[in-house]
Amino acid sequence: MYIPIILGTAREGRESEKVARFMLAKAAEFGLESEIIDVRDYRLLATDDTKTSEAAKRLMGVVLRADGIVIVSPEYNHGYPGELKMMLDMLYEEYFGKPVGICGVSSGVFGGARMIEHLVATCARFHMLPTGEVLYFPRVQDLFDENGAVKKEAYHRRAKKFFAVLAEYAEALQSGRDAQS
Ligand SMILES: Cc1cc2nc3c(=O)[nH]c(=O)nc-3n(C[C@H](O)[C@H](O)[C@H](O)COP(=O)(O)O)c2cc1C
Repeated sequence: MYIPIILGTAREGRESEKVARFMLAKAAEFGLESEIIDVRDYRLLATDDTKTSEAAKRLMGVVLRADGIVIVSPEYNHGYPGELKMMLDMLYEEYFGKPVGICGVSSGVFGGARMIEHLVATCARFHMLPTGEVLYFPRVQDLFDENGAVKKEAYHRRAKKFFAVLAEYAEALQSGRDAQS
């Protein structure tokens, strides 16, 4: 099962990258094929919905192959980063029936909870299916040691549950995606 992880901020010094790397390791432990899809590699100067662009073609290859998608995103002013929206907007019907697991990241105490509300609505518009198994990474600046290891044990258990639910959705939705393609 292929479940790529979209890293949704291009910000220099982004803490969210640590979360994406942690989730990548957990996906491998769970037996999933995965990789980080970095929004930095899909940066646009303006919204570009021509599917002929080189970036859109690359993203299309990833999304069409995906059985599900993880999005790791920080909360910026209660929303998700603009570059993530521009990247997602490159495609539309390719997202149909893909389950999506969201990881919210923040330096404050809410772990991106307000951002996630917006992202869920956007995913629903794309006919993706956000699972209810959201992961919150509040106070992210204190959560990882210098080697990138998570300091709180509970995240290992939470990540396992997160991928278990996402994989169940992916399996359950397979026939719908097959019928669409
Ligand atoms: C433009 C901007 C807006 C932000 N707005 C919020 C916010 O609304 N709520 C919040 O908890 N943190 C906010 N933060 C702080 C981020 O949570 C913090 O940078 C955290 O490390 C996650 O983002 P990062 O991956 O860019 O590091 C904001 C940061 C930036 C750069």
